[in-house]
Amino acid sequence: MQTKIPDWLKNAVFYEIYPQSYYDSNRDGIGDIPGIIQKLGYIESLGVNAIWLNPCFESPFQDAGYDVSDYTKVAPRYGTNEDLIQLFLEAKQRGIRILLDLVPGHTSIDHPWFKQSQKAHPNPYSDWYVWNDSVWNATDADLPSVRGFAERNASYITNFFYIQPALNYGFAHPDPYQPWQQSVDAPGPKAVRQEIKNVMRFWLDKGASGFRVDMAASLVKRDPGHQETARFWTEIRAWLDESYPEAVLISEWGTPTEAIPAGFHIDMLLNYSNPGVISLFRKRGYGNHRDHYSWSFFDESGHGNIKQFVDEYQHYYNATKDLGYMAFITGNHDDHPRIADGRSENLMKLVYLFILSMPGTPIIYYGDEIGMHYTEGLPSKEGGYARTGVRTPMQWSTSENAGFSTADPSKLYLPVPNEIEGITVEQQETKQDSLFNTVRELIKLKQAYPALEADADFQIVYAEEGKLPFIFSRSKQNQSLLIAINPSNQEANCNIPKQSNWLNRKFIYGQDNAINEDGEKWLIKLKPVSGTVYQVV
Ligand code: NOJ
Ligand code: CA
Repeated sequence: MQTKIPDWLKNAVFYEIYPQSYYDSNRDGIGDIPGIIQKLGYIESLGVNAIWLNPCFESPFQDAGYDVSDYTKVAPRYGTNEDLIQLFLEAKQRGIRILLDLVPGHTSIDHPWFKQSQKAHPNPYSDWYVWNDSVWNATDADLPSVRGFAERNASYITNFFYIQPALNYGFAHPDPYQPWQQSVDAPGPKAVRQEIKNVMRFWLDKGASGFRVDMAASLVKRDPGHQETARFWTEIRAWLDESYPEAVLISEWGTPTEAIPAGFHIDMLLNYSNPGVISLFRKRGYGNHRDHYSWSFFDESGHGNIKQFVDEYQHYYNATKDLGYMAFITGNHDDHPRIADGRSENLMKLVYLFILSMPGTPIIYYGDEIGMHYTEGLPSKEGGYARTGVRTPMQWSTSENAGFSTADPSKLYLPVPNEIEGITVEQQETKQDSLFNTVRELIKLKQAYPALEADADFQIVYAEEGKLPFIFSRSKQNQSLLIAINPSNQEANCNIPKQSNWLNRKFIYGQDNAINEDGEKWLIKLKPVSGTVYQVV
């Protein structure tokens, strides 16, 4: 299949905004779309050029909006469709694109389609969800279902929480003894596919630049290797290439070798499910990760092992580099704690050096640019559970409610953490070497050098089992950059066979004098917790 990759992705740096926590413009305690519009100047100053907005559609919010009850209507608490269109326009004037969050796998139980579908009397929506043939029959464990909720005598398959019934995309291998398992081209699945395409068209026509696709691999049931699910996305991609060639699809899939050939422009590497990236960022002793006893690479102990990452990454990279991109994420609304937890500011600067100089299209989660922390122990909000603590209000300043809202603190979507001193935009904007200003500088660097573009070539220079530093190169159009990273609190040295082209090297960022001659070899010497970028060609 010949697909096109929009050019703008080469320089794309994404910013994920959880709308309810970004900026509250009307004092109801909940962030909203006019609030995001007011902060576009800030977003532009950060240097990102695309936003992924978490779901902002009508919803009973039992899973923070991932339980949609109307795909084509903005939730009133965030504003109106006109506000969202205004956001598209004003962002575009600043060179920023907006991607919406598409949740194709399930709806809320409040969605009118589901309300029809659950009725006893057959109707056009009866087959839009996955129902078995009797409420007395449990489904198999891999198809969790809810029994006793509907008027019809059947149980429905869920995709996530019980309030998220799975839309019916059919079964790749329907069980002949379970006739309720429909084939992928049965009328119900066909109608659902058409409708999701209509939803995409609706927002693309209004100015959206694409979608982050929720649980993109989950659509077709009993689909080993996700081949039938992939077929659906390949059709969607062909349609986009034809009708909306600038539009972009980002998958929450986590297997680039499946997602990218299927048609996604970008697949996110998930810091909590891809073992290789877990080995980079895993935090010992926090939440879910309490039980992991190996060290992350980005740890000042220096006990991490870069090979765990490199082996997985190279496999994905080689298989997908001509088709699309992978996205490193700093975190997201599910990933907890936050990436800055348990890390010093200097170490965080190295994390950003890495994320912003590797191939692909990085995604920064709101607040991670200033090193916001996870709040432990918050009661679950809107189905967040342990995730709730990474969804707290953006910390704009040290004034009332961290500058997020002027509502009474009791009305805030989530409380502002107690300790925000030094972790606000206001304080970091004026501090020259703050994390925020470093992130800005690194984004500028990424956008200034062709060798740092998403599709520039990537080569490992030094990545040895349990050793430091980690060194790689990026190259494009006769330009080649060398990037070396030492997360440990000890100096790290290594020898590299001599390459003549490093003689005319130019220091670009981080630690100077890191490359030295050592007889027949180069000696790379990095101070504790430091990194460097050199132009070598
Ligand atoms: C993944 C989303 O990121 C998460 O927040 C949500 O709860 C599930 N998908 C279900 O839609
Ligand atoms: Ca509001």
